[in-house]
Amino acid sequence: MNISKICCIGAGYVGGPTMAVIAQKCPQIQVKVVDINQARIDAWNSEDLSALPVYEPGLDAIVGEARGRNLFFSSEVDLAIEEADMVFISVNTPTKTYGEGKGQAADLKWIEKCARQIASASKSNKIVVEKSTLPVRTAEAVKDILDNTGNGYKFQILSNPEFLAEGTAVEDLLDPDRVLIGGDTSTEEGLEAIQALVDVYAHWVPSERILSTNVWSSELSKLTANAFLAQRVSSINSLSELCESTEADIYEVSRAIGKDSRIGPKFLQPSVGFGGSCFQKDILNLVYICRSYGLFEVADYWEQVIKINDHQKGRFAKKIIKSLYNTVSGKKITFLGWAFKKDTNDTRESAAIYVADLLLNEGANIYVYDPKVSEDQMYNDIDYLNTRTKVENRRLLQSEFDPYAACKGAHAIAVLTEWDEFRELDWQKIYDQMQKPCQIFDGRNLLDKQKLEKIGFRVYAIGKSS
Ligand code: UDX
Ligand code: ADP
Repeated sequence: MNISKICCIGAGYVGGPTMAVIAQKCPQIQVKVVDINQARIDAWNSEDLSALPVYEPGLDAIVGEARGRNLFFSSEVDLAIEEADMVFISVNTPTKTYGEGKGQAADLKWIEKCARQIASASKSNKIVVEKSTLPVRTAEAVKDILDNTGNGYKFQILSNPEFLAEGTAVEDLLDPDRVLIGGDTSTEEGLEAIQALVDVYAHWVPSERILSTNVWSSELSKLTANAFLAQRVSSINSLSELCESTEADIYEVSRAIGKDSRIGPKFLQPSVGFGGSCFQKDILNLVYICRSYGLFEVADYWEQVIKINDHQKGRFAKKIIKSLYNTVSGKKITFLGWAFKKDTNDTRESAAIYVADLLLNEGANIYVYDPKVSEDQMYNDIDYLNTRTKVENRRLLQSEFDPYAACKGAHAIAVLTEWDEFRELDWQKIYDQMQKPCQIFDGRNLLDKQKLEKIGFRVYAIGKSS
């Protein structure tokens, strides 16, 4: 089966970069990315490549090369579906905020809408690829909708989970550890569909890195990979607290255990807590699925990863409050960073939001400098928690374009995101313009503690005894 036209529904953090790379590597395939959000589509079509809606190093060059040649962004969803041989579903699947499974299960209403739209717009057989992270056995539901509401055409459902990490999305897409393709391995049509997608990736991914499995294994592998990665971060974060109470240094511990080839050095970086759109959502989802199958011990085991993460964010905020003589009311506290990690403008589930919320509850005035996140986004994030009125949030929280202005007159600085540029700041100048004693809370262990202490700062760094 030869694929000549691909449509991707959802022009977000996953759909946009993934399709840009497919288009760049497969110039003979027409790739159309569609979205109901017209503003997002306009931004993807913007002349100015620095205004793309997703910031990822290297993405602008790839979009610049392929856009208009074989990569197109459009809001004509039905037309793109109709033309395509293969349709990727890359829409958001946030945690449910209502009803059964609230706070845990993935909300699949957008996926269902897509499936219904694919069914109604199709005028030929198609391969439908789940790209969004989905609970195990979602493909069954998608297939059921397609088979029962369609116009009699045949659909093959594949699961092709995305393992790209934000900030390194382009690198991860160009040189993936593996590409996973799940499909109906029991029928000839299923195997053909798998092969069609294998052929797309084979344009640039070595064949030994393209794995095919049955659909259910593929869906569960995605949740499992994220659960394992998040578990490593929570494990190291839990021990960072023990280090602070002893003479141990979490960095030395992390380095020492990472040298064990069975453990490996990655994802052992202590932090103020993991964020991002995947880890928490996927674990909650896993927990929900386990409970729904009556596997309560398994569910409790994975839920603990989230509990430790919440604890880590909370104890960071408490540390700030305690060090500022148990009150932050009316005090200026500067946040360096708001994104959930460096090199991305994504703020979903960022630790900064939750630490800010706890400090705002105590009446702090927070000034944020983040090189990539807009003030509007910060307000969206904090308003979403529904803890205070919008007016109050705008009174207590502001963003600054300049890090020195953000730090001027502050009682304390907290590093929430590990942006490289924070290391290069003129820390003497910042010290001179702050309230004394100058306190820094480094939630990322980014700064040179000794150098700062020499200037006169009091430095708290995660996992190091003060
Ligand atoms: C993650 C997975 O890595 C990716 O494979 C999946 O497709 C989507 O979810 P992402 O959320 O983009 O990717 O970022 P990741 O680099 O995994 O970081 C997640 C969070 O963990 C960030 O807040 C990061 O700061 C934190 N983290 C990561 C740590 O605190 N310590 C570490 O050692 C690694
Ligand atoms: P992800 O990180 O999974 O890519 P995003 O929220 O960044 O998630 O992107 C998902 C995109 O999917 C959004 O731009 C949203 O407008 C789009 N979307 C959701 N439902 C539909 C739909 N039925 N048709 C087209 N686009 C959709």
